Amino acid sequence: MQNDILRRQFLAHVGQTSPAPQLISVERAEGVFFYTPEGKRYYDLISGVSVSNVGHSNPAVVEAVCRQAREYMHIMVYGEMVERPQVEYATLIAGLLPEPLSSIYFLNSGAEAVEGALKLAKRYTARTEIISMRRAYHGSTHGAMSIMGFPEGEEWKNAFRPLLPDCRAIEFNSFDDLKHITSRTACVICEPVQGEAGVRVPQDGYLQALRARCTEVGALLIFDEIQTGMGRSGEMFAMTKYGVTPDIVCLAKAFGGGMPLGAFVSSNEIMNSLQSNPVLGHITTFGGHPVCCAAGLAAANYLIENKVVEDVERKGALFESLLENHPQVVDIRRSGLLLAVELGSSEKLYKIMELFIERGILSDWFLYCDTAFRISPPLVMTDEQIEECAELIVECLNDL
Ligand SMILES: Cc1ncc(COP(=O)(O)O)c(C=O)c1O
Repeated sequence: MQNDILRRQFLAHVGQTSPAPQLISVERAEGVFFYTPEGKRYYDLISGVSVSNVGHSNPAVVEAVCRQAREYMHIMVYGEMVERPQVEYATLIAGLLPEPLSSIYFLNSGAEAVEGALKLAKRYTARTEIISMRRAYHGSTHGAMSIMGFPEGEEWKNAFRPLLPDCRAIEFNSFDDLKHITSRTACVICEPVQGEAGVRVPQDGYLQALRARCTEVGALLIFDEIQTGMGRSGEMFAMTKYGVTPDIVCLAKAFGGGMPLGAFVSSNEIMNSLQSNPVLGHITTFGGHPVCCAAGLAAANYLIENKVVEDVERKGALFESLLENHPQVVDIRRSGLLLAVELGSSEKLYKIMELFIERGILSDWFLYCDTAFRISPPLVMTDEQIEECAELIVECLNDL
């Protein structure tokens, strides 16, 4: 009854993003599961879209949030005060990233991190052209939406024009397309593993060639590690997996340990160009909120202390091995614990989503790929949970 009232209020008063929301009510969440008020358990294979890497309600994060909330929350806009959670988290991240990525600018979300990175690149290079990849997703604000790759992103962009000028897209993994990066280009932004394209991994040597071309023409290379960062790909950052260091990296999602936090990170030299001409060229009230930084710091420390990331590749391979031979599975694309299970048909995909809900699994498809379902669970998922969950998925595949 109470639940029905909540659902009606949700539909009446919470802004909707699609005409058919799932309307699953959440009572509580723990580890890889969340539970409805009726007590139904769901395996969370979305993790709030690659956010809950350390598991829901991770005690280390909850404790850090409560402690920081008791000490202080918001004091003053970002960049003015020395606040321990920000400084400690920035120092930790700088130590984890390859040199010279050592200056962290905190914001509230992924799209904001991307906006900041694009502005920094324009400011530093004094150029205007921005190149992104086809089937890229970098967020929903005007700037981030402008770089949803052409032509696939047009479906979303067309309704909101005019957007940013001087943006063009090249094909991810096309060595030939690198010639479009020129001395006019301020930056190239690229997800090292394309997430919403349906998990597309880079071909051997592609990211190296992209790096080399950017260096050759003086364009900055921006990696969007918003989805791949914090262990999802099997390394703390996908850039180290592929051995390529960008000029700027964008972080968000799991970076906040479940709280809203984003950042763009660069060298001190590049980052310092935001300090003047004009001063206050990029500012934020809540970016780097102490409670969010405390949560992110606790989550990152949890990953490190419990060697969670070291096990991600093996767990991803286990999940893959349990599903890959099913006759309904056409292909599995995977990076660490980010999997796209390809069914080759959107009808099958929509059907399996219903079967998943019945059996207590939350998954979805990808923005540019509605023929594959997503497996992006908390990285703390145990082998037993992977085996049980894969069995449930196989039952659903059998029923297709
Ligand atoms: C690769 C990538 N970049 C940026 C974003 C945008 O992040 P946010 O939703 O926090 O603005 C997303 C969100 O899905 C993403 O997957």
